[in-house]
Amino acid sequence: MTAITNTDPDSASASQSEINAEMAAIESAYLHSGIEETQPRLDYPPYRSSLLRHPVNEPQHADPEGVELHTPVFGRRDVHALESDLTIQHAGEPIGERIVVTGRIVDGEGRPVRRQLVEVWQANAAGRYVHKRDQHAAPIDPNFTGVGRCLTDDDGTYRFTTIKPGPYPWKNHRNAWRPAHIHFSLFGTDFTQRMITQMYFPGDPLFSLDPIYQSITDQKARDRLVATYDHDVSTHEWSTGYRWDIVLTGSQRTLVENTQGDYR
Ligand SMILES: [Fe+2]
Repeated sequence: MTAITNTDPDSASASQSEINAEMAAIESAYLHSGIEETQPRLDYPPYRSSLLRHPVNEPQHADPEGVELHTPVFGRRDVHALESDLTIQHAGEPIGERIVVTGRIVDGEGRPVRRQLVEVWQANAAGRYVHKRDQHAAPIDPNFTGVGRCLTDDDGTYRFTTIKPGPYPWKNHRNAWRPAHIHFSLFGTDFTQRMITQMYFPGDPLFSLDPIYQSITDQKARDRLVATYDHDVSTHEWSTGYRWDIVLTGSQRTLVENTQGDYR
C-alpha cells in the first residue's frame, strides 16, 4: 500500500522528530555533495506549506516600465524619519525589550547602497502579528503594529528602533515554532528589483528545528542571516543594539527569499 503524502499546508500532521529527520537527511546529502549552494532551496519538503506554492519555473523578465504602472512607488519625501521608530507609532509604549537594529547595505565591492528603501515587519514581543491569519493565543499589543521603513544614508546605513520580537508557533508541523526574526524588504530602484529576507538573533535555540531557516543548506549562508549583538549600538538605560549588514552581490551576499507577501 502506497503512503499518502499529506500536502494540506495547515495540517500540522508531522511531528518535530519527523521534520528533524527529513532536515538531517537533506543536510547530510548536501554535505556529501561537495557543491556549495548559494541560495535557499525552493523545493524543501520539510517546509510543508511551501510545497504547493514555491516557484517551479524560471523567473520571467518583466518590462520594468510596464510594471511601474501598477506597483507601489515612493519618493524621498514620502518616507519620514520617524517611520524608522516602531516604538512611537501609538499613544503608549509597546511592551517588550527595546532594541536598535542597524547595519550597512553594500554591494559586492563594499560600496554603500545609498537612499535604499528598507522596510521591516515583525511580530510583537509576545510573538503575535497584527495579521488576520495570525490567531494564536498570544496578545496583540495595542501600542505596536510591527512595521517600519527608512532610507539608507550616504554610508548605506539603515537604523531601526523597535521591540525584540518573540518566537511564534506556526502550522507547518506539530509544535512548530519559528525562531525570532525581523522581515526585511529592500526596494531596489524599482519594484521588479525588490528583495525580501529575514534577520535572526544570535544564539536562538530554534534554529536547528526550523524548516525555513534550514532550507538554507549551507551553514555559512545561514550565519549571514544572524545579527550580532553590538554593545556600541546599545545605549545607556534605553536599548540594546544589534548589527546586521546586507551584502547584495558576490560570494558573501545575504540570501533573499523568492516569494513575497508571506508574513511567516
Ligand atoms: Fe515572520
